[in-house]
Amino acid sequence: MRKDDAEYVVSQRASWHGVRRPVALMGAIACAAILMATTTANAGNIEKRDFGKLPDGTPVFEYTLTNAKNMSVGVINYGGIITSIKVPDRDGKIDNVVLGFRDIDSYVSKNPYFGVIAGRYANRIANAKFTLDGKEYTLAANNGPNSLHGGVKGFDKHIWQVKELPGGDSVGLELAYRSPDGEEGYPGNLDVKVTYTLNDKNEFRIDYAATTDKATVINLTSHSYFNLAGNGSGTVLDHKLTINADKYTPVNATSIPTGIASVEGTPFDFRQPTRIGDRIRDGDEQLIYGRGYDHNWVLSRPNDGSLALAARLEDAKTGRILEISTTEPGIQFYTGNFLDGTLVGSAGKMYRQGDGLCLETQHFPDSPNHPDFPSTVLKPGETYKTSTVHRFFTDKI
Ligand code: GLA
Repeated sequence: MRKDDAEYVVSQRASWHGVRRPVALMGAIACAAILMATTTANAGNIEKRDFGKLPDGTPVFEYTLTNAKNMSVGVINYGGIITSIKVPDRDGKIDNVVLGFRDIDSYVSKNPYFGVIAGRYANRIANAKFTLDGKEYTLAANNGPNSLHGGVKGFDKHIWQVKELPGGDSVGLELAYRSPDGEEGYPGNLDVKVTYTLNDKNEFRIDYAATTDKATVINLTSHSYFNLAGNGSGTVLDHKLTINADKYTPVNATSIPTGIASVEGTPFDFRQPTRIGDRIRDGDEQLIYGRGYDHNWVLSRPNDGSLALAARLEDAKTGRILEISTTEPGIQFYTGNFLDGTLVGSAGKMYRQGDGLCLETQHFPDSPNHPDFPSTVLKPGETYKTSTVHRFFTDKI
């Protein structure tokens, strides 16, 4: 029995049957003692190892968070990149379910955002421009006419300060980065903290926080490419996906949202579990613009900052399931459309189109130019806070 379960039972019994309280309490204390002994033996841990150097000599480290169930998450201090997420399949076989590289040089020279923290503004800002409080800001255009994932040197290409957070039934890392005023054209010194936490329920949680000294815009996400059948095992077209959304944001030819539309009757309707490959080659204009799925869904959720279930991904072959809950209003579903066989990943296999998929929880792309979208403005005195939880389990549990 887990400690919190034991406490729950005690409090329930205590209130239901006052007279039994001493017995229940003694039982719970015994139970908690056994549990503490077990968690001490199997407690999660954090390992740190050298992961090479940046071209300027800065050392890079890889931290591996491991929980009591042997699930692990690898993270480097460059870009806050998640290098691996290792989880069991239905038979207990552990495999890495995210795409990545083995060496820092590949992450520095050719990373298509594998595992990164994307910011200051994840996804696109049209024509690399926005106006805030009457002033126009010009950003770096690094994706055709648009600015993508924070510009030429986004948060994915900086060294983050890492603090280890050892714990009882969870282990974590706090990553901090100060984005200076004017960086990539954005106003305000922005202090960002991203906390990665892995608990013993095989939940990997990301908490984002930021403050600024001038009004700015911010949209942070995590850009892992998932393949629940295992990194390097082929395409994700057989995975089944459910997205809790009645609407999505269709795009123009440069992937900038043109508004909000219903998913009804389109290949974007994932309200029921649907095989990703079923409609990906439909001659739909939206799919052609993205070369597959590369769109933002408008999540059906209360507007109260709570964690709400956004998406569920299942792989029938291994039985692995991932559920993503978030406080965010949107999720970008991207099917690795630009992987073209030129990269060799951490499994020693070459990546081709569709070999991984991203489910990036976020505010909507280009919100600074769409006053009708939820606001991405952060003002001095406010704290930006969002959270996303990735829960891994199998069809056997
Ligand atoms: C996001 C974008 C895609 C692409 C990937 C990274 O998902 O929407 O167009 O840039 O990131 O390649």
